[in-house]
Parts: sequence; structure tokens; C-alpha cells
Amino acid sequence: MEKIVSLSRRRGFAYPGSDIYGGFSGFWDYGPLGVELKNNIKQLWWRMFVQERDDMCGLDAAIIMNPRAWEASGHVEGFADPLASGKMFNTMLRTAVGAGEESTTSYLRPETAGGIFVNFKNIIDSVHPKLPFGIAQIGKAFRNEIAPRDFVFRAREFEQMEIEYFVRPSEWEQAFEEWRENVHAFNDAIGIPRSSVHELEVAPEDRAHYSKRTIDFEFDFPFGRKELYGLAYRTDFDLKAHMESSGVNLEYLDDSTSDKFIPHVIEPSFGVDRTILALLSSVYTEDELGGETRTYLKFNKRVAPIKAAVFPLLKNKPQLVEKAHEVYSSLKLLVPSIQFDDNGNIGKRYRRQDEIGTPVCITIDFDTLENDTVTLRDRDTGEQVRESIAGLISVI
Ligand code: GAP
Repeated sequence: MEKIVSLSRRRGFAYPGSDIYGGFSGFWDYGPLGVELKNNIKQLWWRMFVQERDDMCGLDAAIIMNPRAWEASGHVEGFADPLASGKMFNTMLRTAVGAGEESTTSYLRPETAGGIFVNFKNIIDSVHPKLPFGIAQIGKAFRNEIAPRDFVFRAREFEQMEIEYFVRPSEWEQAFEEWRENVHAFNDAIGIPRSSVHELEVAPEDRAHYSKRTIDFEFDFPFGRKELYGLAYRTDFDLKAHMESSGVNLEYLDDSTSDKFIPHVIEPSFGVDRTILALLSSVYTEDELGGETRTYLKFNKRVAPIKAAVFPLLKNKPQLVEKAHEVYSSLKLLVPSIQFDDNGNIGKRYRRQDEIGTPVCITIDFDTLENDTVTLRDRDTGEQVRESIAGLISVI
């Protein structure tokens, strides 16, 4: 864990929040590589669960909602953890909206799900989806955690990728099973091995107040087996509560049977920050290459923050530098997340790219000037082959 935290900081994946003021417990800032990694993870999730499916739509709701929504959902009453004294402490972060005495207390959402439920009717009325269908959202969530710890694992500000998948009440078990498999499929896609993920059937007394069945997907983190994602059967709890509290009818009209009912919901919930930590833990590798110990991140190409690095063999040979810039610029048009590096010797550049998980390095050498081929070096094996410049894009 120490090695992962140190690498993250040293290479620009994540820094303690407000670092120059000594940090601020439970808050983390993602650096240049961290933000790329995070975006890749979110884009892959969005593509897999929204864009590639016909039964899903997306949403980006406000973080701060009318506080009545959090009363209805049971969070004002029950979103609490016990303090050392045994007293319950509500972990929603409060904020004041509006000026002075006129201000209203509201909350920074503790889960993105809330925004989905309050938009259920808007989505039904504007895009007319037919059951079963899901609404997906990615965004920040906030919890005033009593004891933030373990790097980004338990933070006070974090990000969630959530789906509320609405079904007919009789269909919940089938949908639950489908999403159970989809959670594993997502891990496969980003490169978290199934052998490190374990399902835990959460006991009734440990489930959230809204859930009738929950499975936690636990990951073998360096500090132990802990929750990575959750899958819950939230029944019609939320829509029913919002319908009663707002007075707005949130029933679904089934065209085929003319039945009106409140749909039930299956909720797969993914933490972005925990995904990053699980991924870093999965890909962090140390081995020996050319008689030296090296550290590398074995990211797959989809999530790697930098897809390729381009080097001129020698910094002081203008022809090589010019050609390297030319190759770099043409590749960058198609794959923007690549880097140019001419600092230090080739060995050092390889090590730097290994450490941030760049899958391939491309070196422009004297042969390149003769025949438009380059040296292509593989991160994991260190093997080098010659490749034509024209073939580089398909390799990357
Ligand atoms: N809407 C359901 C929900 O919020 P949860 O199990 O409380 O359920 C879902 O949270 C996911 O959000 C967790 O599995 C985890 O990945 C992430 N998460 C929760 N609290 C977190 C925290 N304090 N820091 C980082 N991630 C957190």
C-alpha cells in the first residue's frame, strides 16, 4: 500500500487534498495521470452500460437537491454511523443554500442515486422508455466519514457510477442476476482479475434501510478484503417514498396491460476511487529486467493513462528529433494521450514509462531515417521489434 501511495504521488496519479496546507483528511486530488485514468474508467463504464445498450439512458443531476428529497429517502433520519460514544452521527455533509437568515440547510448528496429517483418522471415523460430500463449517472458524492482512511478507499468526497434499473416487481430476481454478472464483466474490461473479487451476501441487519437484498463485491486490497462495489434490490422503496412526500404520481403505465404500478429497482453501484485503488493494486508489478529490479503498472490498453511514448534515440541529433516530432504529431491526431520524451538515456525513459504503465514505447533511430521503421518496445516483456510507421496506429 505504501508503494502504491508513494508511486501515485511521485508520478502524479493522486495527491493529498490541499497538500501545501498539510492536507485535509478524507480529500484527495487527482493529478495529470490520475485524471486520465479516472476518465478512461468512467468512459469505459459509460460506453459499456449506457451507449452500447438500448435499455439505458444517462443523467447528470445536481449535487444539491431540495432537502425534502433526503427526508423522503430516509437519509435525514437514517444515514448515520455510530460514534465512539455510541451516539449516532448523520454523515451527510450539510451546506447552507441562500443568504443569511433566509438560507435553507441542504446536503451534498451522499449517493448519486437520489438524483435519479427524483428525475424518474421527467425521463418517463421526455424519452418514454419501456420497462425494463435503467438510468445511469456518474458524479461526486460526499459523506462526512467519521474515520476516512486507506488512501482514496474511504474518502469524504468521492465519485460514484450508479445505475437504477427499473423492472416489473416480478422481474427483480432475473435483473439482479444479470447485473451481478455485469459487475464482473466491467472488472474484466478494466483489468481487475475475478480471482481478487469475492461476493458477500450482506446479512439483513447489515443492509441499507432501503434494501431487501444486497451483494457486496469485495476486493483483496493490500489492507484486507473490503467492499469495492455493491448491488442492491431497493424494491419500490424510493419511488414510493418520493411519491408520498412530493404528492406527484410516480407510477408507470404499462401500455400492453394498462396496469399502473410503481416499478422496482436493482441498483449496481460502483465507486470510481475504489476502482482506481483496486486497479492500481492489481496492476502494480515488480520484476527483474536486464539484471535490474523495475516497477511497472500492467494497465490494459483501454485504461492506461498514456497509450504510447515516442522518443528520438539521441537528443542531440536534429534529424532524429525532427523525425520523432513528426511521428509523434501524426500519431497524436488519432491517439491524443501519447507522450514525447527526450530526457535522459533510453533506459531511463523506458523505466519512467513502465512506472506509469505505458503499454508501448516507440524509438526513432537511424534506421528510421532510412526505411521508415521504428523500434517498438513492449512494457511487460521488454521485447523490442521493428515496426513500420504506417503500422503504429493499429499497434497502439
Ligand atoms: N447508492 C448505493 C450506495 O451508495 P454504498 O455501498 O454506500 O451504496 C456504493 O456505496 C459504492 O460507493 C461503494 O461500493 C464504494 O465503491 C463507493 N463508496 C462508498 N463510500 C465511499 C467512501 N467513503 N469513499 C470512497 N468510495 C466510497
